[in-house]
Amino acid sequence: MNAIAARGLTKIYARQLGKKAVPSLDHLDLKVGENEVFGFIGRNGAGKTTAIKLICGLIFPTAGEVEILGRNARDPESRRAIGYLPENPYYYEYLTPIETLDFYGRLHSLDATGRRREWDKLSELLELRDIAHQRVREFSKGMRQRLAFAVALVGDPQVLILDEPMSGLDPMGRRATRELILRLRDEKKTVFFSSHVLSDVEQVCDRVGILVKGRLKACGRLDELLAQHIRYVEVIADGPVRVEAQPVRVSKAGIHFHAPDLDAANALVKRIHEAGGHLVEFNPVSESLEEYFVQRQEN
Ligand SMILES: Nc1ncnc2c1ncn2[C@@H]1O[C@H](COP(=O)(O)OP(=O)(O)OP(=O)(O)O)[C@@H](O)[C@H]1O
Ligand SMILES: [Mg+2]
Repeated sequence: MNAIAARGLTKIYARQLGKKAVPSLDHLDLKVGENEVFGFIGRNGAGKTTAIKLICGLIFPTAGEVEILGRNARDPESRRAIGYLPENPYYYEYLTPIETLDFYGRLHSLDATGRRREWDKLSELLELRDIAHQRVREFSKGMRQRLAFAVALVGDPQVLILDEPMSGLDPMGRRATRELILRLRDEKKTVFFSSHVLSDVEQVCDRVGILVKGRLKACGRLDELLAQHIRYVEVIADGPVRVEAQPVRVSKAGIHFHAPDLDAANALVKRIHEAGGHLVEFNPVSESLEEYFVQRQEN
């Protein structure tokens, strides 16, 4: 079974007077498997939050549908499986983390022992112990985000939907969040998260989807997406390499050539061998995710 399955998922917010209706999410087809970490990337306004709200059943689609572990997101029961970290988490400002988690524990119908157990586990995991009795209104962004993550994990949900979990965090906070996501994967959870911070996505995701103006432009394993985008292949050879190709430079490693693609590079290596030279290195140079992403925005 898929953890998340969207089919033709479309959202057009109520049309503004005199303006043409443009879908904020346009026929999204997407499957996220169980125990997968999926990164959803796109620029501001691409439709990430819209998709996430549809998945969580917080808004309803104009067309199409989405299922969580086989249940339609319109069915409130589907939400039992979900832990949700909103883009701008907001909690009762006068409550402390211990009270906030207790409140969410009650919403999950946990008894006093269960709620205590959740606090013990989550306060340790998200480092909330030192601020257990401080009011949320006094919290910094990072503290708030840790609390929000703890709230998302109350009740041990199977599917985590995180809207920009790393936004506004310092490098330590980002790293802690990445480690937490990987830990959730080890616990066999599904993690679906949005971001525009590419290095964070690169480091933790099994697959990524790239959303541009409401449309999914690319989806797949990162290494595969990037393999389709080889800029050139660097071939370093040594020995007698009298071939018709022009070397780009000579270094201690050997004589460097650039071939435009894999076929050309293989042909070049063959000719180098025929000339009596030998291969030192063969490096396909692909676009960084950053370049790939920027290019997707423009098309
Ligand atoms: N409640 C709403 N009513 C009308 N339009 C909306 C509403 N929410 C979002 N939109 C529009 O939908 C589009 C997608 O917005 P969304 O918030 O989903 O983008 P996003 O990818 O999450 O952006 P960001 O990176 O800034 O969070 C935008 O053009 C936005 O103006
Ligand atoms: Mg958003």
